Amino acid sequence: MPDLSRDVVIVGAGVTGLTAARRLRRAGLSVLVLEARDRVGGRLWTNSIDGQLYEIGGQWVSPDQTALIETLDELGLDTYSRYREGESVYIGADGVTHRYVGATFPASESTQQEFDRLVALMDELTAEVDPASPWEHPNAAEYDRISFRQWLSEQTDDEETIENIALFIADAMLTKPAHSFSLLQALLMAASAGSFSHLVDADFILDKRVVGGLQQVPLRLAAELDDDVVLGAAVDTIEWTDDSVRIVSSSAQLTVTARAAIVAVAPNLQAVIAYEPPLPRLRHQALQHQSLGLVIKVHATYPTPFWRSDGLSGTAFSPYQLVHEVYDNTNHGETQGTLVGFVSDEKADGVFSLDADERKAEVLASLAAYLGPQALEPTVYYESDWAAEEWTRGAYASSFDLGGLTRYGALQLEPVGPIRFGSSDVAGHGYQHVDGGIRVGWRLADEIIDDLQQHTTPHQGALT
Ligand code: FDA
Repeated sequence: MPDLSRDVVIVGAGVTGLTAARRLRRAGLSVLVLEARDRVGGRLWTNSIDGQLYEIGGQWVSPDQTALIETLDELGLDTYSRYREGESVYIGADGVTHRYVGATFPASESTQQEFDRLVALMDELTAEVDPASPWEHPNAAEYDRISFRQWLSEQTDDEETIENIALFIADAMLTKPAHSFSLLQALLMAASAGSFSHLVDADFILDKRVVGGLQQVPLRLAAELDDDVVLGAAVDTIEWTDDSVRIVSSSAQLTVTARAAIVAVAPNLQAVIAYEPPLPRLRHQALQHQSLGLVIKVHATYPTPFWRSDGLSGTAFSPYQLVHEVYDNTNHGETQGTLVGFVSDEKADGVFSLDADERKAEVLASLAAYLGPQALEPTVYYESDWAAEEWTRGAYASSFDLGGLTRYGALQLEPVGPIRFGSSDVAGHGYQHVDGGIRVGWRLADEIIDDLQQHTTPHQGALT
């Protein structure tokens, strides 16, 4: 088994691990990135399905995601706007399909008033929360004790308002039922995007896409690192002392000795690695209180974007539909039309109990309820199923259970000996998004650079 040696070894070639590796390399440190899969990018994966290019994982870029935008510029990647001309569609509790323009969905006047009031309240509370340390808010313990759903039902009796406010955090972001996470977790999600209003505004949060696909970010970062990224190298064991690590990958038949390590994988997969000696007790506990949500990302391509000629933008949503949100996802420069839709948490559980043909029929019926019967007959259809992927196990990202954020949140930032942990799942601006992963990668690299600078003896030579 070859035993390699580097200044820093990184577990995981997602955007977080590769961003950190690039920064460390630029500071003069030697790095090795070990990736379990046979590709880089993790939750970013642009792939051809039956000849049609799909973003199987993450794809959108919003204006506040300045770390991602800076990285796209550095890597020479162009963006384009999501198609949004024409009317949007909303389906209400009564099952009636409404077409509308503007930001406010069509509901009764009283529901619209309640919805606007709760958006303003959420914005007010969100503004008080620092996304990098939500546990420090003066009311953190109180906000972390109550489920988001329960809190919403204490604010209003209007069920349609509750369902719609919940949708923008529960179905659309954390991809967990609103009764399973706290108000504080919901406020973190909103604060990480700048405000709750940003999450409600699809034109903001789902603004741009990358020409050729967002996986080009990790692909280009990895190309710079060349042979210092090893694929098919699942890390099983990390042995550590105060100032060194030895990492074992049985699948790649190699070991790596280094002065520091970054475990750049989501918390659920941090827990799958064996540590010798074991991680501290609280860290073991913390990792059991964070879990990934569940969402099916559905792609359907048609000979033309038929909804456009009907005056529709392709944007549609409803808390009462199987597919709770739909967008025109036609790739840059293509004449065929593509829709993307999302089936979240308990609704996903429901359709995963069906066979593939029945599930497809239910999903397409939901698309047709929004956009008409032509949606029933795509030429290409695909479901991104990240929960079935051994090296991810859910989508989009991780969040804490009730009370977990205040109890364990701050631990996410702490190293264990020479090992640092992080991914886009750490609280902060861009949380759960590629932008957050890049910020975490920068922070972890900077911490290691500082740390090794302090501990570098003249003969070691790094950082000189
Ligand atoms: P990520 O999980 O990507 O990388 C970790 C890597 O570690 C993986 O490559 C994995 O294989 C590897 N690994 C795990 N265990 C290992 C081990 N033991 N040994 C070696 N390697 C190991 N974001 C956004 O900004 N805009 C969007 O539109 C979307 N939409 C979206 C849709 C879907 C369907 C998904 C699944 C996700 C998104 N996201 C998103 C979220 C975004 O994709 C995500 O936050 C980041 O890509 C996560 O990057 P990380 O590098 O932090 O983790």
